[in-house]
Amino acid sequence: MTFDARRDDYLSALGLTDWQYRVDGPLGGTDQRVAEPEAPDQPVATEAPAVVAANGPPPGAELDTQPRADDTPSPQVEPLAREVPESLPPAAAENGPAGLDWDQLEAYLSRQDHRGANRPVFGTGARDAEVLIVGEAPGANEDAQGVPFVGRAGKLLDRMLAAINCSRATNVYITNICKFRPPDNRDPTPDEVAADWPILERQIDLMAPRLVVAVGRVAAQTLLDCQTPLGKLRGQLHRYPRRDLDVLVTYHPAFLLRSPQQKSKAWADLKMIARHIRAFDQ
Ligand code: URA
Repeated sequence: MTFDARRDDYLSALGLTDWQYRVDGPLGGTDQRVAEPEAPDQPVATEAPAVVAANGPPPGAELDTQPRADDTPSPQVEPLAREVPESLPPAAAENGPAGLDWDQLEAYLSRQDHRGANRPVFGTGARDAEVLIVGEAPGANEDAQGVPFVGRAGKLLDRMLAAINCSRATNVYITNICKFRPPDNRDPTPDEVAADWPILERQIDLMAPRLVVAVGRVAAQTLLDCQTPLGKLRGQLHRYPRRDLDVLVTYHPAFLLRSPQQKSKAWADLKMIARHIRAFDQ
C-alpha cells in the first residue's frame, strides 16, 4: 500500500479529509513550506521551575517565544465569568491547597491575589480524564470568561484535540501554568509561576492523569524544569519531575496561528499523543 493510501485510511478512520494543506481541514492549513529555525541546545536547569520564566527565551530560540498574541476578541466569548464555588475550610489559609477537593481548590484560587487580572482561570474539562493539557497563562479572552483557551488559539486547540478524538467535554482537562492573566500578555514571571504552582500540583494530585500534554515553550520548560528549546522537547516521551507521569510536548496553538507552516509538525505530535492514549488500554 502506498503512503498516501495509508494516510487516507488513517485520516478517514479519524473522520477527516486530507487536511494538511487545506484551510477547511481540522487544523486549518497552508501550502507554504518554511524550514524550522534551528535552535542551539541550552543547559538543563536544576532549580525550581520558576527559573524558566526568569531567563526568558534563550538566544536563537524558536519562534514560540512571543507573548500570547491571541487577544483578538473572540465573537463567541461572553464577557462574564463562571461562578466560583464558595466553600473553603478555614485551615486552607494556613495549609495552602494541600488536601483541598476540586471545588475547595477553585474557591482557594479565587481568594489569591489576582495580580491585576479580572479573575482566576482555574481550568475546564473532564476532571476524571486521563489526559491533562497544560498551557501557559490566560489571555484577554480567558480573563474575560474565566475559562482557559477560549480565544482563537483555543478554537484551534479544540480542533487539534478533535482530530485525535479528544475534547474538553469528554476526555481531557485543560488548565494553565499560571492561573491569572499576566499584564500586557507578557510571559509569566518566576514569582507568578511559583505562586500558582501549588494549585497546578494539587490539580494533578486530584486528577491523577496518565499523560500531561504541555502546549508551548513556557508550559513545557516549566513542567519539565529545563530550558531545552521546544523543538527539541517535542517528539519524545518525558517524565514529569518527581512524579510517575508521562509528558508529551507540542506547539502552542497561538504559535501555529502565527506560523501555520508548522502545523504538519503539530500533526506529528498529535499522532504521537493519540498513540500514547491508545496504549493506555493495552
Ligand atoms: N494561551 C494559553 O497558554 N492559555 C490560555 O488559556 C489561552 C491562551
